[in-house]
Amino acid sequence: FKKMPLYGKKVLITAGPTYEAIDPVRYIGNHSSGKMGYEMTKTALNLGAKVILISGPTHLKLSHPNLELVKVNTAQEMFDHAMQQFESVNIAIASAAVSDYRPKTYQNQKVKKTEDTFRIDLVKNPDILKTFGQNKTHQFLVGFALETNNEVENAKQKLAKKNLDFIVLNSLQDKGAGFKNDTNKISIITKDNIKRFDIKPKPEVAQDIFNEILSFISDGKDN
Ligand code: PMT
Repeated sequence: FKKMPLYGKKVLITAGPTYEAIDPVRYIGNHSSGKMGYEMTKTALNLGAKVILISGPTHLKLSHPNLELVKVNTAQEMFDHAMQQFESVNIAIASAAVSDYRPKTYQNQKVKKTEDTFRIDLVKNPDILKTFGQNKTHQFLVGFALETNNEVENAKQKLAKKNLDFIVLNSLQDKGAGFKNDTNKISIITKDNIKRFDIKPKPEVAQDIFNEILSFISDGKDN
């Protein structure tokens, strides 16, 4: 039978938001729905890969014999699971919108309304993708950049700082791109090239991203 292009390969994908608890009822989060990451998971499965999807809280559901779905809440949990798996994968894609900070202390009881202003001290979360980049040996590494301004410049900085093979830029300046929408508009950026794509449904965006990955790994650049 005809071998599927990612048969025998293991792909790790992070998706969705993280929730950083303030107290038992409140958290710091963001607008990620998980759609982009779940669509890439489906594409990778269709291409024959085994997929580990590490997902923050979303309403999306997915099951498949070749899928290991790990549900987490916080950036630290996402980091811990991701680092356990990283060594064993061929391709890692970070599409999660990970909270850069978390509350320094968790209040065990619901915080009461008292003063007019209320301060929360935040501490930095670990950077999952950056740590992947530092530990990269054979893995093909793809990151995302969600930007609102100086998009290409910021994405290029992330590409270099996180030691990525390419970065997928999406901008909140583009209507129908980024969070929650069923569509996205991306650019795929490498050290010396930028490929701009039209706005399209997220399943097609996911296919574009994997076409790009396949063209790199079949060039013999990696694993
Ligand atoms: O989920 P949807 O509603 O479909 O929306 C999709 C999306 C907009 C969330 C997605 O396309 C996207 O852009 N994801 C990355 C969002 C983001 O947080 O980007 P960033 O530029 O802040 O982060 C840069 C990269 O580092 C990302 O690959 C991110 O996953 C990673 N990162 C960031 C911080 C951190 N602590 N750990 C990380 O791994």
